[in-house]
Amino acid sequence: MTRNILIVAGDGIGPEVMGEVERVIGWFNDNRKFDAKIENELVGGCCYDAHGVAVTDETVEKAKRADAVMLGAVGGPKWDNVPYEGRPEAGLLRLRKDLELFANLRPALCFAALADASSLKREIVEGLDIMIVRELTGGVYFGEPKEITDLGNGERRGVDTQVYTTSEIRRIAEVAFDLAKKRDNRVMSVEKRNVMKSGVLWYEEVKTLHGEKFSDVKLEHMLADNCAMQLVRNPKQFDVIVTDNLFGDVLSDIASMLTGSLGMLPSASLGAKDASGKACAMYEPVHGSAPDIAGTGAANPIASILSFAMALRYTFELGADADLLEKAVDKVLADGLRTGDIMQPGMKKVGTKEMGDAILAA
Ligand code: NAI
Ligand code: MG
Repeated sequence: MTRNILIVAGDGIGPEVMGEVERVIGWFNDNRKFDAKIENELVGGCCYDAHGVAVTDETVEKAKRADAVMLGAVGGPKWDNVPYEGRPEAGLLRLRKDLELFANLRPALCFAALADASSLKREIVEGLDIMIVRELTGGVYFGEPKEITDLGNGERRGVDTQVYTTSEIRRIAEVAFDLAKKRDNRVMSVEKRNVMKSGVLWYEEVKTLHGEKFSDVKLEHMLADNCAMQLVRNPKQFDVIVTDNLFGDVLSDIASMLTGSLGMLPSASLGAKDASGKACAMYEPVHGSAPDIAGTGAANPIASILSFAMALRYTFELGADADLLEKAVDKVLADGLRTGDIMQPGMKKVGTKEMGDAILAA
């Protein structure tokens, strides 16, 4: 069975880090009968330069057909003043929207060797392994009305509307319960039902779905403000956290800082399964195109490589291969190799390629 992977490396350090991902995919082809066929397309500023748009219709169609899309990063100062449709971010947003990627998975994983790089104490973060499941296509970022109106006499009013329907809540909760089964079998559902009607509905629907289909998974509920506090106080109490678009945006950024560096953080965005069981999926590092170091060969490829590990686990259902890759990253860090962004005293500083070499060797 050939697996189709579309790589859209993008701008800045995107092509550098995705180059290492291609080598990792090649390794799995050669050594683990992975049988992936890779295609490359443009997205972001590079696509604007070539075609006048940030992503082409053909690339969107290819992305829909692919088993998995691997994205590097888009954007950079060169395109800061182009019109909205050409803006690099517009390409990314269009891919997310057209592929209907409603579930954003952001793991916060702390490698033992990097525990001292966290802003928290080692004992609080060492061994941390949590997964935040953020609803990505609904909620206050998209609800209508969304407007600024003039009330006269100098007053203006800004309105955003938080909207969730039963089916939107159930499908994101289903992703979280399914994930929990492959992990520590625990889900924390997060909302603010004390002050929000959509929060009440969220709470009720997650609870109902749990009773219907997932009663073997442990479900708890927490208010979002308390969750923010608990993430910093005692993050290891969590396994899977499921929450809405806005709370998920904020909580996943808090969680990410528990683990050290931006260059280490992978993510996945998953769509709904069609009749044949196929779901669109896009995997990407959390970081941007890092124009300050682009072209210098200094970028950390680990976030992108760990994003590919997520593809192995969630799209291709090759959990053992994902483990293998994550263990290789762990070993290389334990051996003392560091790119500039995660450099610590006494460690060996390496570039993008050497880090890739070491992970392949491990
Ligand atoms: P950034 O993530 O690109 O960089 C922030 C800082 O982290 C920089 O000092 C950079 O050198 C460092 N950094 C990031 N990734 C790294 C890596 N893999 N290895 C080593 N160091 C790394 O965020 P910034 O500077 O705010 O944005 C730069 C450009 O990227 C902008 O055009 C922005 O719009 C775009 N961007 C794109 C994203 C995406 O494609 N998903 C996400 C965030 C920003
Ligand atoms: Mg954010």
